[in-house]
Amino acid sequence: MKKYSFHLLTMLLAITVSAQAQTKNIQNFDQDWTFNLGDVSNAKNTDFNDSGWRKLNLPHDWSIEGKFSKDNPATPEGGALPGGIGWYRKTFTIPESSRGKIISIDFDGVYQKSEVWINGHRLGFRPNGYISFRYNLTPYLFYGTKKNVIAVKADNSTQPNSRWYSGSGIYRHVWLATNNKVAVDHWGTFVTTPKVSAQAASINLKTTIRNYTGATQTAVLTTIIYDASGKIVMMKTIPGISVKDSIKEVSQDFTLNNPNLWSVDKPYLYKVVSKVTDEKSVSDSYETPLGIRYFNFDVDKGFTLNGKPMKILGVCDHHDLGSLGAAVNKRALERQLEILKGMGVNGIRTSHNPPAPELLDLADKMGFIVMDEAFDVWRRGKKKYDYHLYFDQWHKRDLEDQILRDRNHPSVMMWSIGNEIPEQTDSSAIGIARDLAAIVHSLDTTRPITNANNNPGTNNKIIQSGAVDLVGYNYHHTDLAGFHDRYPGKKFIGTETTSALETRGVYDMPSDSIRRWPNNRNYENGKGGMNADYTVSAYDNVSAPWGSTHEETWKVIKKYDFLSGMFIWTGFDYLGEPTPYSWPARSSYFGIVDLAGFPKDVYYMYQSEWTDKTVLHIFPHWNWEAGKTVDVWAYFNHADEVELFLNGKSLGVKKKTGDDLHVMWRVKYQPGTLKAVSRKDGKVVLTREIKTAGKPAKIQLFADRSTIKADGSDLSFITVKILDKDGNVVPDAENLVNFKINGDAFIAGVDNGDPVSHDPFKANYRKAFHGLALAIVQSKEKAGKVSFTATAAGLAPATISLQMIK
Ligand code: GAL
Repeated sequence: MKKYSFHLLTMLLAITVSAQAQTKNIQNFDQDWTFNLGDVSNAKNTDFNDSGWRKLNLPHDWSIEGKFSKDNPATPEGGALPGGIGWYRKTFTIPESSRGKIISIDFDGVYQKSEVWINGHRLGFRPNGYISFRYNLTPYLFYGTKKNVIAVKADNSTQPNSRWYSGSGIYRHVWLATNNKVAVDHWGTFVTTPKVSAQAASINLKTTIRNYTGATQTAVLTTIIYDASGKIVMMKTIPGISVKDSIKEVSQDFTLNNPNLWSVDKPYLYKVVSKVTDEKSVSDSYETPLGIRYFNFDVDKGFTLNGKPMKILGVCDHHDLGSLGAAVNKRALERQLEILKGMGVNGIRTSHNPPAPELLDLADKMGFIVMDEAFDVWRRGKKKYDYHLYFDQWHKRDLEDQILRDRNHPSVMMWSIGNEIPEQTDSSAIGIARDLAAIVHSLDTTRPITNANNNPGTNNKIIQSGAVDLVGYNYHHTDLAGFHDRYPGKKFIGTETTSALETRGVYDMPSDSIRRWPNNRNYENGKGGMNADYTVSAYDNVSAPWGSTHEETWKVIKKYDFLSGMFIWTGFDYLGEPTPYSWPARSSYFGIVDLAGFPKDVYYMYQSEWTDKTVLHIFPHWNWEAGKTVDVWAYFNHADEVELFLNGKSLGVKKKTGDDLHVMWRVKYQPGTLKAVSRKDGKVVLTREIKTAGKPAKIQLFADRSTIKADGSDLSFITVKILDKDGNVVPDAENLVNFKINGDAFIAGVDNGDPVSHDPFKANYRKAFHGLALAIVQSKEKAGKVSFTATAAGLAPATISLQMIK
């Protein structure tokens, strides 16, 4: 025992230091790859000459660099961008000091059908483009100065394989892990909190130790729990663990008094650090996030988090990041989540695939409840070349890997085993649903399983199978009130709702007539009353026929406690699925926020309902033909009434009655100033003004962050506004704006939110769309000042300065 106490002391010192230094034995492996678009027969060979290939850093999505065409095999539904086959290679050395260690490569996601070779040895194949995977490189590596070559083939040539934009290539991060031969296994911890109250939390940690030596080893496992400030709150050591076989699971229990609970408003995070030491050396360390919370779905009362009733106010999102494509960028994801948080969103559904790991890290940190979804299809496909081709052979492995990777995230509170599975009403679904649920339960029983049903009738075999804990409805908002008539004693979740449609800045009147587009699945413009210019009104008066408007949906969900929550289709517009039109439209109209990240008006309806922020939002713009009758809407809260004035003359006071979510005035247009005043108990709460804009005169720039990290990946999102001479945004401005950067940074993408634009996303120019455009500036690895200038013919230019800091 003596031996251990001394050992423990030295180890503790090492631990305190290393926790701050973040030793995770993992190093980012994104830099210095070469890339070739097109198949090359011998590119897997070590001696292949790739000197002519393009040099780049990952993550990389080659599709987003391509040209839009309706003839691309992805079709407009898949985003109308090119696919194909791409090769990546990286040449690297491994230091002599790593000899004797286990060296592995981790891919967070490669779209799709990836094959990987190390020094000419084939490591494997993964067809699923959204799954994370690891290969052990150790048996094939050279050490010292001798070079190693890793080659990756991504095959996105068999299309269509997706109902949305997938992106192509190594579009997520790659890591190199260097571990001792006795260490915590890959995804080798599982932390749960079996009992939680305000007074105490019991914590169980299962740690899987892997022994690569082939001989019995004696290991010491030390587990340390840190609070959010980095202070050690608990520590336990188990000495003398005999690891005979290659893998050993060790269970540890802790009781933490007065725990800080994780919630969506206060996402308090602890951290578990596991160290495995084999008596001789200081061990590897392995980090696991820990959020202490408890939640429940109740048949009648709906959802509670830490005992408090609340609704899951969620959105569904696809994985693309607009003009950045599928190439993951943590700051771009964080910005999306910030924008959604600002509207009151507290839930994310990762439709319809496992997300980038960064999304879950951010959800843990920022306070979102995640529905982590596995599949869009099982055995029956939706597209000729989609995952149904691989389901039989791969679903077990893929689902296991997803659960193992994601089960420690406190944000994840539901597993979804499928979206709108075509075999819903086929008896074959019963066995598959049970099989998938058994796979999930073998790795995690702490979260409910759901699936998203577009046919939630009692003939639904997945629901009948008893495999799911939460009955998930997609749409059917008029059936929600009677859910328990159909499913007595069952728990509910609105896996997907709404599918309303809007183009930012477009207003079709009368605003109180609801349109369901496309009629008869007729995707052509001008047909079925649809707009000839491929736009959709932003009054929240259009939805897909299978969906409902935002207000229609929220009014129902809001009313009944047992409706535990909803996931709106969608938070952000996404590439592909350009409903209600098809080509030349190439991206969605479903978003509450457009593809560039600019909110549509209905964002403020949610903000007025879902946040504590005091809201008064009036629209539309105030540039119309003289004499036109214009509907003016106001979303507001924290007030009894709103009064509207046109050029100083009152147009009347409006109050919400019943379940109203907005008020409206029908106004004969005349140019000038529209002013709204909200009042509570006769006192003014907020005032808003919209003025008739004159001709475009100048550009205004606004950076979401003007100081960013000089780390080669941080981003500044610059909003470009076209203003008249008095500073009003010109609502129909379409000026072509050119961008120029001075200093060490580059433009990573440009956009304006127009779903019909075919201009490239990788460019130094963009036309404004309804007065706005976006430029995304990315840092290089050099600190310094960067100036960003926007010019346009006939307009006063604008420049802003950005700081890149180390
Ligand atoms: C749903 C489907 C989503 C998306 C949406 C569009 O039925 O689950 O992936 O296609 O419709 O409204």
